[in-house]
Amino acid sequence: MTKKRIAVLVSGGGTNLQALIDAQGRGEIPSGEIVLVVSSEPDAYALTRAEKAGIPTMTIVRRGKKRETFTRLLCKALDDAHIDLVVFAGFMVILSPMFFEKFENRAINVHPALIPSFCGEGFYGLHVHEQALAYGVKLTGATVHFANAVTDGGPIILQKAVPIEENDTPETLQRRVMEQCEWQLLPRAVRLFCDGRLQVDGRIVRIKEEEA
Ligand code: GAR
Repeated sequence: MTKKRIAVLVSGGGTNLQALIDAQGRGEIPSGEIVLVVSSEPDAYALTRAEKAGIPTMTIVRRGKKRETFTRLLCKALDDAHIDLVVFAGFMVILSPMFFEKFENRAINVHPALIPSFCGEGFYGLHVHEQALAYGVKLTGATVHFANAVTDGGPIILQKAVPIEENDTPETLQRRVMEQCEWQLLPRAVRLFCDGRLQVDGRIVRIKEEEA
């Protein structure tokens, strides 16, 4: 079977990208290969992580461009690289509907909360954890879902919860959610996709049994 060609989209530190690179290195994504990393920020540390792993990189700067222009340039880059799966790993850009038509059920996002809580436009990065703490929830976590034109609104693939602890700061909570949820769920979801085990039925994602 030919491997699925994966592009990872990033904007910042890239710890989720690193989790994917490490999983790939351990042979945990046998039916896929990360062939391209695209950053919206020229100085994102995620680009250094990709270079260290020998993965081709590209930067498409978001600032100063219309949303449609950015989306068109991104789609062209993904087409040129014959991408099967797009992974949003800390990608802080909202794309035009054109992208989601093209990559329907072929784009996966990781969000640092239990969707439908603390999600949508304006909920990104550390802000998500600030909001969870301010609201006083006792549990939070992460969600990996198919991305569609509604920000954080697509069908849910995997979720995992962690408790909020008494002296948590946004930073300590972010770390727990990353370590215990995001870095585990994202590689697992990518593997399931590449193995052809995700079946989307409306909003419901079913995980097919592994073939013996
Ligand atoms: C991660 O927590 C990711 O879930 C979140 O930003 C962080 C990026 O970290 N993404 C969003 O908030 C998107 N709505 P990373 O660059 O180290 O992977």
